[in-house]
Amino acid sequence: MNRPRWASRTTFILAAVGSAVGLGNVWRFPYLAYKYGGGAFLVPYLVALVLIGVPVLMLEFGIGQRFQKGAVHSFRELHPRFAGLGVFALLSAFIIVCYYAVVMAWALIYFFASFTLRWKGDASGFFYDKVLQIAPAITSPEAVSLNLVLVLALAAVWVLIYFCVWKGVHSVGKVVAWTVPLPVLLLALLLARAAFLPGALSGWWFYLVPKWGALLDPEVWQAAFSQILFTLTIGFGVMIAYASYNKKDEDVVKNAWVTALINSGISVFAGFVVFAVLGFMAHTQGTSVGDVVASGPGLAFVVFPQALSLFGKASAFFAALFFLTLLSLGIDSAFSLVEAVNAALKDWSPKLSVAKLSAIVSVVGFLGGLIFTTRGGLYFLDIVDHFVNNYNLVLVVIFQSVLVGWVHGADKHFQFLNAVSEWRVGAWWKVSIRYVVPVLLSLLVWVNLFLKKTEAGWEWKGDLLAPYGGYGAFSFIIGWAVVLVPLVLFVLFFIKGSEGGGAAVAAAPGRPRRRGSRK
Ligand code: PHE
Repeated sequence: MNRPRWASRTTFILAAVGSAVGLGNVWRFPYLAYKYGGGAFLVPYLVALVLIGVPVLMLEFGIGQRFQKGAVHSFRELHPRFAGLGVFALLSAFIIVCYYAVVMAWALIYFFASFTLRWKGDASGFFYDKVLQIAPAITSPEAVSLNLVLVLALAAVWVLIYFCVWKGVHSVGKVVAWTVPLPVLLLALLLARAAFLPGALSGWWFYLVPKWGALLDPEVWQAAFSQILFTLTIGFGVMIAYASYNKKDEDVVKNAWVTALINSGISVFAGFVVFAVLGFMAHTQGTSVGDVVASGPGLAFVVFPQALSLFGKASAFFAALFFLTLLSLGIDSAFSLVEAVNAALKDWSPKLSVAKLSAIVSVVGFLGGLIFTTRGGLYFLDIVDHFVNNYNLVLVVIFQSVLVGWVHGADKHFQFLNAVSEWRVGAWWKVSIRYVVPVLLSLLVWVNLFLKKTEAGWEWKGDLLAPYGGYGAFSFIIGWAVVLVPLVLFVLFFIKGSEGGGAAVAAAPGRPRRRGSRK
């Protein structure tokens, strides 16, 4: 079987960067930097990048390239009991793409609303009451009724996603040549305008002036570590699938550094755009930048639209530009998740056509996303997002480090990395995979389970002890289902793998025995 290949090394890098660079760079990073010490946040961020982000990215690129398979089958090659880890990663990826596509659907609606600046005068009312038609609480009866405009917008987004992945790496390769440079260019245009607005400098001041005291706060470190995992799209099988379309001897080490540095560079750059606009808005309203910043949906769909409507005659133009930026940023992250699922299904049944598979995954993704298009959708989204990112993603990264570092043997993978890479990686990589990643991330999980920082300081109110986000029993049920369903599947696969799974895998017809070989 000839595995499909990226057209060039640049195409692979573009695809990996496209997956990494997404809403997290524009609405999460700048906010975290502001909240956690301004320029000082770069210290824990860069430490997390080097200690965890880059080594895990090398691990994932290496796995995909070495075994030339998607996540499930690659993990199975590493150890027959670990196929379920791929299932865990992909199910989590799938859950994310279900709501990620809904956020893109909001952006699509806003793109069309830009031309007439429909939110003018009441940006918050427009978002919550018009676009989301939000129910007063997650327990209100109307929380489960569908919002039809959103459903239609979601369908449109899935059609877009489908046409990006329907020919596998060939279509993805062509699409990323546009969707990666485009948002960067759009951000540059926005920056060119925003930099000359009154107040921009004070925005940057807020963004970047380091408050070194923040480094003593463990919460800052916690935020930096979670952000690095999220922003690099590691722990979802995406980077494994993408790297599996490389030739086996592609330079893993260099590719990982390049991808990680471009991604972080775009985050810092996006921060300049965001804070110039926030500074301008604070200036216009006569308030401080601290009073207008927000993160997540509030930033992109309330504060930013409002700020853009103050741009005078060019408002509609820059608003449309901004939402086009969000859409082009989101689309390649969204379809990378679909491609990871496709790759695994295709390994499982090579005869399936990619176009058909993509259609099935897109329809299921659309159906799965419907819950987030209800009038309680934002509440559901908040819960699911919290649990997937704080647990699923972190657990997968821990397990895969243990798998490679201890079960399979860090040395073997280390030798593979250096055999194919011109830029060599030092022995620190093994230390990171064996000790640093599992220990630090386990600590992160432990803190999230038991502790929570409130106004009064750290309290025993973690997700295991108190329901997240004040949603009561709902966040317990939905949140833990999101974590436990994939986790239980992983455990079942693990147990089943022990019943002679190793021999069965090795003896399966057509499956070359690769374990033990270097490359
Ligand atoms: N890396 C993407 C971002 O920063 C988000 C993402 C995470 C996308 C996980 C897919 C999966 O926005």
